[in-house]
Amino acid sequence: MTATDLPAHPPTDRLRAPGRVPGGGVRGFTRRMRSAFGTASGVEVLAALPFLAAPLARLERRPLLHGLVLSAFGLRRPIFVDFPVRPEPRFGHGRPDHPALTALLDRGRDAYAARLRRFCDHADRLAEIPLRGDLDAGSPYWVNGWLPPLDALALYGFLADGDPRRYVEIGSGNSTKFARRAVRDHGLRTRITSIDPAPRASVDVLCDEVVRRPLERADLAVFDELEPGDVVFFDGSHRSFMGSDVTVFFFEVLPRLRPGVLVQVHDIMLPRDYPPQWRYRHYNEQYLLAAFLLSGSDRWQVELPNAYVAGDPELREVAAGLWRRLGLTEHYLPASFWLRIGEG
Ligand SMILES: C[S@@+](CC[C@H](N)C(=O)[O-])C[C@H]1O[C@@H](n2cnc3c(N)ncnc32)[C@H](O)[C@@H]1O
Repeated sequence: MTATDLPAHPPTDRLRAPGRVPGGGVRGFTRRMRSAFGTASGVEVLAALPFLAAPLARLERRPLLHGLVLSAFGLRRPIFVDFPVRPEPRFGHGRPDHPALTALLDRGRDAYAARLRRFCDHADRLAEIPLRGDLDAGSPYWVNGWLPPLDALALYGFLADGDPRRYVEIGSGNSTKFARRAVRDHGLRTRITSIDPAPRASVDVLCDEVVRRPLERADLAVFDELEPGDVVFFDGSHRSFMGSDVTVFFFEVLPRLRPGVLVQVHDIMLPRDYPPQWRYRHYNEQYLLAAFLLSGSDRWQVELPNAYVAGDPELREVAAGLWRRLGLTEHYLPASFWLRIGEG
């Protein structure tokens, strides 16, 4: 696959906005403040004030200036490095995709298509989910700014078809709503656990268990309890630092998981690099995932790489009928990468 296989108008403005928590009204304001203190970003405290939200949103469009201004006010901590950092995509986005990763993902094309077709069998139920909605309500909606439609479809489908005993989510919000809807629609036995210090939406009532602390401070024993078919959904900070959630996930959570556990990692663009417009986010999670995959171990069995699917005209077509039925005309860049833990 090459980047030219992506939709004709790459939905760059449809990529998810960083960091700020949307939502209106008193409930939205309260949640944004809680989120701001929970994640200690400081910026969200300011962005929660209605008269500062618009100027801050404008400033965010100029990442370097944004960073400088926020650092000057002590709202961001700059990281000083001794060698230059030049964040430029090396794969995709005008260059060839990573060849070995492409070959690896190509091997599952038929299985991805079959899986997506099965997910689309839930079309009648899925069509009951509205296109738009309220972030502070408990119901899912397709155009939500955080979980692109193909990712929402995959989450719903894997749960509905797998009926897992446990769904453990790190990084909650719209995904929790889709998970709860799948449980409700299909009478699943699935117990939902959310680990997130400050979810993107009010989701506590949708969960059977909530852990309102960062993954790195949570009791990881929950992952020892998971059985084949159970699901771990990871959509956290996307950055590996010493002791950060991503580092803990790759080095302490994944090794604990039993064979057969299903894992989703979000904001994964493989076999391409992160898009150039994300360069100042300094995400690095997918490089760890790519290194694990390239090790050739049987431990990582790719089930559904949604960014790859979106870059392949034939695979993209599988769910096109569903999007037409929903009346979804805009394109969103999907980013869920699903894999199953193997015996390796
Ligand atoms: C991109 S949002 C998740 C979006 C959500 N999955 C959805 O569909 O709306 C990232 C989430 O990760 C959470 N987060 C950030 N750092 C975290 C950490 N160290 N441990 C757990 N969650 C974290 C944030 O509070 C935020 O809710």
